[in-house]
Amino acid sequence: MLETWLTRTLGITVPLLGAPMGGRAGGRLAGEVTRAGGLGLIGAARYNTPQWLAAESAVARELGGGLLGFGLMTWSLAADDSLLDAVLAERPRVVSLSFGDPAPYVPRVHAAGALAISQINTIEDLRIVEAAGVDAVVAQGHEAGGHTGRIGTLPLLQEVLESTSLPVLAAGGIASGRGLAAVLAAGAEGALVGTALLASPETVGPEYARDRLVAASSTDTVYTDVFDRARHQPWPARWGGRALTNDYTAEWHGRGADEETLAAAYDGNDPRLGVVYAGEAAGLVREQRPAGEIVRDIATRAEELLRRFG
Ligand SMILES: Cc1cc2nc3c(=O)[nH]c(=O)nc-3n(C[C@H](O)[C@H](O)[C@H](O)COP(=O)(O)O)c2cc1C
Repeated sequence: MLETWLTRTLGITVPLLGAPMGGRAGGRLAGEVTRAGGLGLIGAARYNTPQWLAAESAVARELGGGLLGFGLMTWSLAADDSLLDAVLAERPRVVSLSFGDPAPYVPRVHAAGALAISQINTIEDLRIVEAAGVDAVVAQGHEAGGHTGRIGTLPLLQEVLESTSLPVLAAGGIASGRGLAAVLAAGAEGALVGTALLASPETVGPEYARDRLVAASSTDTVYTDVFDRARHQPWPARWGGRALTNDYTAEWHGRGADEETLAAAYDGNDPRLGVVYAGEAAGLVREQRPAGEIVRDIATRAEELLRRFG
């Protein structure tokens, strides 16, 4: 068993968090990651209702033996923080507050008995979340799927590990035992894994998203804002999203078209046009596989590799 601050603190057996992926990671995916020994985080998107959260939490709780975690987008709470109340009402063990300053919300997370963690993309972000009082940080690299920053996982992770006394996890491009072993050997307390789980039958979302990911190679992603603008998602400009390339990105990425034009050309029901957020680890996802199998496989192989060093 790989024992780290993360496994000891959460009482889990695999130092791995299932990434909170809005629109893709619901209760089944999160619950299966937890059942396999990690902790799966349910992705709470802006448009999710408290009823949806309660139903997904019940599924995750049942599968995962009661252990729950969620991820929220911090910037979206400024206009309406009722989703945080809905999350805390489920008595989670971990709440991830990423993309923005979590200071207004960390005391509420702690008062509810949960750990507060934040994904960060720069050393400036690290200083902001340290001041906010989070319990751990996740260095999220540019190769990650979904919204992320501009520094690669490995340079960011090394810089963050050198710069803080907080426990550090790594995210972005970790999709096998080799990836987990690498970040643990570097000094991380665990990994947060998204793309590797995205072709699992337990994910939410259209069937074409799983098929397209399996067919994609690691060169088939693009870091872009066109899908946010097409779908009127008011993401702060500093965060683009990494998605699989398709006809839509070929036509509109980097063209500087206005939101109305982008929205008119977008159709989420059409696989050639709809967004599939995924990271550069896409090339490592070669089949639809149950999430629990993936987590157990990552853990076993990481352990084998690390054993080489005693
Ligand atoms: C489809 C998708 C949706 C995501 N949604 C969120 C989200 O709602 N909140 C969040 O904090 N991170 C989100 N992320 C980022 C992940 O939490 C994580 O950083 C990323 O998946 C790690 O990199 P990897 O995909 O290479 O494993 C999302 C990622 C993906 C692929």
